[in-house]
Amino acid sequence: MVDKVSLTDLAGMTARGERIAVLTAYDAPSARLADAAGVEIVLVGDSAAMTMLGHASTLPVTVDEMLLFTRAAARGAQRALVVADMPFGSFQVSDESAIEHAIRFIQVGQADAVKVEGAGPTLARVRALTGAGIAVMGHLGLTPQSATQLGGLKAQGRAAPAALRLLDDALALERAGCFAVVLEAIPAPVAAAITASVVIPTIGIGAGPACDGQVLVWHDVLGLTAGHVPKFVKPYADLGATILTALTAYVADVRAGTFPEAAHTYAMPEGERRAFDAELKRRRAAPRPQASRGKKRP
Ligand code: KIV
Repeated sequence: MVDKVSLTDLAGMTARGERIAVLTAYDAPSARLADAAGVEIVLVGDSAAMTMLGHASTLPVTVDEMLLFTRAAARGAQRALVVADMPFGSFQVSDESAIEHAIRFIQVGQADAVKVEGAGPTLARVRALTGAGIAVMGHLGLTPQSATQLGGLKAQGRAAPAALRLLDDALALERAGCFAVVLEAIPAPVAAAITASVVIPTIGIGAGPACDGQVLVWHDVLGLTAGHVPKFVKPYADLGATILTALTAYVADVRAGTFPEAAHTYAMPEGERRAFDAELKRRRAAPRPQASRGKKRP
Protein backbone atom coordinates (compact mmCIF):
# COMPACT_ATOMS: atom_id res chain seq x y z
CA MET A 1 0.00 0.00 0.00
CA VAL A 2 1.48 3.35 -1.11
CA ASP A 3 1.08 6.44 1.09
CA LYS A 4 -1.25 9.03 -0.45
CA VAL A 5 0.06 12.53 -0.96
CA SER A 6 -1.55 14.67 1.76
CA LEU A 7 -2.34 18.36 1.98
CA THR A 8 0.42 18.55 4.59
CA ASP A 9 2.87 17.01 2.09
CA LEU A 10 1.92 19.68 -0.46
CA ALA A 11 2.31 22.50 2.08
CA GLY A 12 5.66 21.03 3.14
CA MET A 13 6.92 20.85 -0.45
CA THR A 14 5.99 24.48 -0.98
CA ALA A 15 7.64 25.57 2.27
CA ARG A 16 10.84 23.77 1.16
CA GLY A 17 10.69 25.29 -2.32
CA GLU A 18 10.02 21.91 -3.99
CA ARG A 19 7.84 22.12 -7.10
CA ILE A 20 4.53 20.25 -7.29
CA ALA A 21 3.72 18.36 -10.52
CA VAL A 22 0.06 18.09 -11.52
CA LEU A 23 -1.53 16.46 -14.56
CA THR A 24 -5.11 16.04 -15.60
CA ALA A 25 -6.37 12.49 -16.11
CA TYR A 26 -9.85 11.20 -16.77
CA ASP A 27 -9.58 7.42 -16.58
CA ALA A 28 -7.80 4.64 -14.72
CA PRO A 29 -4.96 3.91 -17.18
CA SER A 30 -3.97 7.55 -17.60
CA ALA A 31 -4.16 8.22 -13.84
CA ARG A 32 -2.02 5.10 -13.26
CA LEU A 33 0.62 6.41 -15.68
CA ALA A 34 0.55 9.93 -14.19
CA ASP A 35 0.91 8.38 -10.75
CA ALA A 36 3.82 6.20 -11.89
CA ALA A 37 5.49 9.28 -13.37
CA GLY A 38 5.40 10.82 -9.90
CA VAL A 39 2.79 13.60 -10.04
CA GLU A 40 1.57 14.77 -6.67
CA ILE A 41 -1.94 15.59 -7.91
CA VAL A 42 -4.18 14.03 -10.54
CA LEU A 43 -6.72 16.66 -11.49
CA VAL A 44 -9.89 15.29 -13.05
CA GLY A 45 -10.51 18.55 -14.87
CA ASP A 46 -13.78 19.61 -16.44
CA SER A 47 -11.58 19.98 -19.52
CA ALA A 48 -12.89 16.42 -19.95
CA ALA A 49 -15.86 18.09 -21.63
CA MET A 50 -13.54 19.00 -24.50
CA THR A 51 -10.76 16.39 -24.36
CA MET A 52 -12.94 13.34 -23.71
CA LEU A 53 -16.45 14.26 -24.80
CA GLY A 54 -15.68 16.45 -27.81
CA HIS A 55 -17.60 19.55 -26.66
CA ALA A 56 -16.47 23.01 -27.75
CA SER A 57 -16.31 24.29 -24.16
CA THR A 58 -16.23 22.97 -20.60
CA LEU A 59 -19.81 24.05 -19.87
CA PRO A 60 -21.82 21.01 -21.03
CA VAL A 61 -20.14 18.35 -18.87
CA THR A 62 -22.48 17.16 -16.10
CA VAL A 63 -21.90 16.04 -12.53
CA ASP A 64 -22.73 12.45 -13.49
CA GLU A 65 -20.23 12.49 -16.36
CA MET A 66 -17.55 14.01 -14.14
CA LEU A 67 -18.28 11.41 -11.47
CA LEU A 68 -17.60 8.64 -13.97
CA PHE A 69 -14.25 10.19 -14.98
CA THR A 70 -13.33 10.86 -11.34
CA ARG A 71 -14.14 7.37 -10.10
CA ALA A 72 -12.12 5.82 -12.93
CA ALA A 73 -9.12 8.12 -12.35
CA ALA A 74 -9.27 7.47 -8.59
CA ARG A 75 -8.91 3.72 -9.29
CA GLY A 76 -5.69 4.42 -11.20
CA ALA A 77 -4.08 6.91 -8.83
CA GLN A 78 -2.45 5.11 -5.90
CA ARG A 79 -0.20 7.84 -4.48
CA ALA A 80 -1.38 11.06 -6.12
CA LEU A 81 -4.06 13.19 -4.50
CA VAL A 82 -7.16 13.09 -6.71
CA VAL A 83 -8.88 16.45 -7.20
CA ALA A 84 -12.28 16.50 -8.90
CA ASP A 85 -13.21 19.64 -10.81
CA MET A 86 -16.74 20.73 -9.93
CA PRO A 87 -18.45 21.32 -13.28
CA PHE A 88 -20.51 24.35 -14.26
CA GLY A 89 -23.82 24.39 -12.37
CA SER A 90 -22.64 22.14 -9.56
CA PHE A 91 -21.56 24.88 -7.14
CA GLN A 92 -23.10 28.13 -8.43
CA VAL A 93 -26.65 27.67 -7.11
CA SER A 94 -26.30 27.50 -3.33
CA ASP A 95 -23.99 26.45 -0.53
CA GLU A 96 -26.20 23.42 0.11
CA SER A 97 -26.13 22.12 -3.45
CA ALA A 98 -22.38 22.80 -3.68
CA ILE A 99 -21.83 20.73 -0.53
CA GLU A 100 -24.11 17.93 -1.78
CA HIS A 101 -22.29 17.76 -5.12
CA ALA A 102 -18.87 17.91 -3.49
CA ILE A 103 -19.84 15.06 -1.16
CA ARG A 104 -20.82 12.98 -4.21
CA PHE A 105 -17.37 13.64 -5.69
CA ILE A 106 -15.76 12.44 -2.47
CA GLN A 107 -18.09 9.49 -1.78
CA VAL A 108 -19.02 8.24 -5.24
CA GLY A 109 -16.11 9.67 -7.24
CA GLN A 110 -13.59 8.67 -4.57
CA ALA A 111 -11.85 12.06 -4.96
CA ASP A 112 -9.70 13.44 -2.16
CA ALA A 113 -10.60 17.08 -2.85
CA VAL A 114 -12.58 19.29 -5.23
CA LYS A 115 -11.71 22.33 -7.33
CA VAL A 116 -13.95 25.34 -7.97
CA GLU A 117 -13.40 28.21 -10.37
CA GLY A 118 -13.40 31.92 -9.53
CA ALA A 119 -13.55 34.22 -6.53
CA GLY A 120 -16.36 36.72 -5.76
CA PRO A 121 -19.47 34.58 -5.22
CA THR A 122 -17.28 31.45 -5.16
CA LEU A 123 -15.67 32.60 -1.89
CA ALA A 124 -18.83 31.85 0.09
CA ARG A 125 -18.92 28.39 -1.51
CA VAL A 126 -15.30 27.73 -0.58
CA ARG A 127 -16.08 28.69 3.02
CA ALA A 128 -19.16 26.43 3.00
CA LEU A 129 -17.25 23.49 1.49
CA THR A 130 -14.23 23.77 3.76
CA GLY A 131 -16.62 24.28 6.68
CA ALA A 132 -18.18 20.94 5.73
CA GLY A 133 -14.75 19.33 5.93
CA ILE A 134 -14.07 19.19 2.20
CA ALA A 135 -10.63 20.09 0.86
CA VAL A 136 -10.92 22.75 -1.87
CA MET A 137 -8.55 23.93 -4.58
CA GLY A 138 -9.21 27.39 -6.07
CA HIS A 139 -8.79 28.47 -9.69
CA LEU A 140 -8.15 32.05 -10.86
CA GLY A 141 -7.23 33.88 -14.06
CA LEU A 142 -8.64 32.24 -17.14
CA THR A 143 -11.54 30.32 -15.63
CA PRO A 144 -13.08 28.55 -18.64
CA GLN A 145 -16.54 28.21 -17.07
CA SER A 146 -16.78 32.04 -17.25
CA ALA A 147 -15.14 32.35 -20.69
CA THR A 148 -18.12 34.26 -22.11
CA GLN A 149 -17.87 36.89 -19.37
CA LEU A 150 -14.09 37.01 -19.71
CA GLY A 151 -14.29 37.71 -23.46
CA GLY A 152 -13.19 34.25 -24.56
CA LEU A 153 -10.43 31.81 -23.68
CA LYS A 154 -7.70 34.44 -23.34
CA ALA A 155 -5.04 35.56 -20.87
CA GLN A 156 -6.27 37.52 -17.84
CA GLY A 157 -4.72 40.13 -15.55
CA ARG A 158 -2.66 41.90 -18.19
CA ALA A 159 -3.72 45.37 -17.01
CA ALA A 160 -2.58 46.56 -13.57
CA PRO A 161 -6.08 46.84 -11.99
CA ALA A 162 -7.01 43.33 -13.16
CA ALA A 163 -3.65 41.98 -11.95
CA LEU A 164 -4.25 43.54 -8.50
CA ARG A 165 -7.75 42.02 -8.44
CA LEU A 166 -6.23 38.59 -9.07
CA LEU A 167 -3.82 39.11 -6.18
CA ASP A 168 -6.68 40.13 -3.86
CA ASP A 169 -8.75 37.16 -5.05
CA ALA A 170 -5.91 34.74 -4.35
CA LEU A 171 -5.53 36.12 -0.83
CA ALA A 172 -9.30 35.86 -0.34
CA LEU A 173 -9.35 32.22 -1.54
CA GLU A 174 -6.54 31.46 0.88
CA ARG A 175 -8.48 33.10 3.74
CA ALA A 176 -11.60 31.16 2.69
CA GLY A 177 -9.68 27.92 3.24
CA CYS A 178 -8.35 26.72 -0.15
CA PHE A 179 -5.37 24.41 0.21
CA ALA A 180 -3.96 25.48 -3.20
CA VAL A 181 -4.90 27.70 -6.10
CA VAL A 182 -4.57 27.17 -9.85
CA LEU A 183 -3.44 30.27 -11.75
CA GLU A 184 -4.36 29.95 -15.41
CA ALA A 185 -3.15 32.13 -18.30
CA ILE A 186 -1.91 35.18 -16.41
CA PRO A 187 1.32 37.12 -16.87
CA ALA A 188 4.35 35.59 -15.16
CA PRO A 189 5.06 38.66 -12.95
CA VAL A 190 1.48 38.60 -11.65
CA ALA A 191 1.72 34.89 -10.82
CA ALA A 192 5.11 35.51 -9.15
CA ALA A 193 3.60 38.26 -6.98
CA ILE A 194 0.66 36.04 -6.01
CA THR A 195 3.01 33.15 -5.23
CA ALA A 196 5.09 35.41 -3.01
CA SER A 197 1.98 36.74 -1.23
CA VAL A 198 0.09 33.54 -0.39
CA VAL A 199 1.32 30.67 1.75
CA ILE A 200 -0.74 27.99 -0.03
CA PRO A 201 0.79 26.42 -3.17
CA THR A 202 0.08 28.16 -6.47
CA ILE A 203 -0.26 25.75 -9.39
CA GLY A 204 0.39 27.48 -12.69
CA ILE A 205 -0.85 26.75 -16.18
CA GLY A 206 0.34 29.47 -18.52
CA ALA A 207 1.40 31.50 -15.48
CA GLY A 208 5.19 31.31 -15.71
CA PRO A 209 7.91 29.55 -13.74
CA ALA A 210 7.55 31.19 -10.32
CA CYS A 211 4.48 29.16 -9.32
CA ASP A 212 4.89 26.47 -6.67
CA GLY A 213 3.75 23.83 -9.14
CA GLN A 214 2.60 23.34 -12.71
CA VAL A 215 -0.39 21.61 -14.27
CA LEU A 216 -0.99 20.60 -17.86
CA VAL A 217 -3.80 18.79 -19.61
CA TRP A 218 -3.14 15.13 -20.46
CA HIS A 219 -4.01 15.44 -24.15
CA ASP A 220 -1.86 18.58 -24.56
CA VAL A 221 1.22 17.04 -22.91
CA LEU A 222 1.04 13.93 -25.05
CA GLY A 223 0.21 15.49 -28.40
CA LEU A 224 -3.33 14.14 -28.48
CA THR A 225 -5.16 17.44 -28.83
CA ALA A 226 -6.95 17.86 -32.13
CA GLY A 227 -6.99 21.50 -33.17
CA HIS A 228 -5.76 24.54 -31.26
CA VAL A 229 -3.17 23.99 -28.54
CA PRO A 230 -2.68 26.93 -26.13
CA LYS A 231 0.62 28.84 -26.28
CA PHE A 232 1.57 27.75 -22.75
CA VAL A 233 1.60 24.03 -23.61
CA LYS A 234 4.83 22.11 -24.07
CA PRO A 235 4.01 18.81 -25.78
CA TYR A 236 6.31 16.06 -24.49
CA ALA A 237 5.27 13.50 -27.12
CA ASP A 238 3.38 13.26 -30.39
CA LEU A 239 1.19 10.31 -29.49
CA GLY A 240 -1.53 11.45 -31.89
CA ALA A 241 0.83 10.75 -34.82
CA THR A 242 2.09 7.52 -33.24
CA ILE A 243 -1.46 6.24 -32.71
CA LEU A 244 -2.52 7.18 -36.23
CA THR A 245 0.47 5.32 -37.73
CA ALA A 246 -0.33 2.23 -35.65
CA LEU A 247 -4.05 2.26 -36.50
CA THR A 248 -3.39 2.82 -40.20
CA ALA A 249 -1.07 -0.22 -40.19
CA TYR A 250 -3.77 -2.28 -38.43
CA VAL A 251 -6.41 -1.33 -41.00
CA ALA A 252 -3.99 -2.16 -43.84
CA ASP A 253 -3.23 -5.58 -42.27
CA VAL A 254 -6.94 -6.38 -41.89
CA ARG A 255 -7.62 -5.41 -45.51
CA ALA A 256 -4.64 -7.45 -46.75
CA GLY A 257 -5.53 -10.48 -44.61
CA THR A 258 -2.09 -10.36 -42.96
CA PHE A 259 -3.63 -10.03 -39.49
CA PRO A 260 -4.20 -12.24 -37.57
CA GLU A 261 -1.12 -14.44 -37.99
CA ALA A 262 -0.67 -17.94 -36.50
CA ALA A 263 0.72 -16.36 -33.32
CA HIS A 264 -2.58 -14.56 -32.70
CA THR A 265 -4.72 -17.63 -33.30
CA TYR A 266 -5.97 -20.42 -31.00
CA ALA A 267 -5.09 -23.99 -32.06
CA MET A 268 -7.12 -27.17 -31.40
CA PRO A 269 -5.76 -30.47 -30.06
CA GLU A 270 -5.18 -32.72 -33.11
CA GLY A 271 -7.70 -35.38 -31.98
CA GLU A 272 -10.44 -32.76 -31.46
CA ARG A 273 -9.68 -31.25 -34.83
CA ARG A 274 -10.08 -34.65 -36.54
CA ALA A 275 -13.36 -35.29 -34.72
CA PHE A 276 -14.63 -31.83 -35.66
CA ASP A 277 -13.66 -32.28 -39.33
CA ALA A 278 -15.28 -35.73 -39.46
CA GLU A 279 -18.55 -34.38 -38.03
CA LEU A 280 -18.50 -31.43 -40.46
CA LYS A 281 -18.01 -33.86 -43.35
CA ARG A 282 -20.90 -36.00 -42.14
CA ARG A 283 -23.21 -32.98 -41.86
CA ARG A 284 -22.32 -31.69 -45.29
CA ALA A 285 -23.04 -35.09 -46.81
CA ALA A 286 -26.46 -35.27 -45.12
CA PRO A 287 -29.50 -34.02 -47.12
CA ARG A 288 -30.28 -30.32 -46.42
CA PRO A 289 -33.55 -29.63 -44.55
CA GLN A 290 -36.11 -28.04 -46.89
CA ALA A 291 -36.90 -24.90 -44.83
CA SER A 292 -33.32 -23.96 -43.95
CA ARG A 293 -32.73 -20.27 -44.60
CA GLY A 294 -29.34 -20.20 -42.86
CA LYS A 295 -26.07 -18.83 -44.13
CA LYS A 296 -24.84 -20.31 -47.42
CA ARG A 297 -22.68 -23.38 -46.83
CA PRO A 298 -19.13 -23.09 -48.10
O1 KIV B 1 -10.24 21.50 -16.35
C1 KIV B 1 -9.00 21.49 -16.28
O2 KIV B 1 -8.32 20.65 -16.88
C2 KIV B 1 -8.38 22.53 -15.49
C3 KIV B 1 -6.91 22.71 -15.61
C4 KIV B 1 -6.57 23.27 -16.91
C5 KIV B 1 -6.35 23.51 -14.49
O3 KIV B 1 -9.05 23.23 -14.79
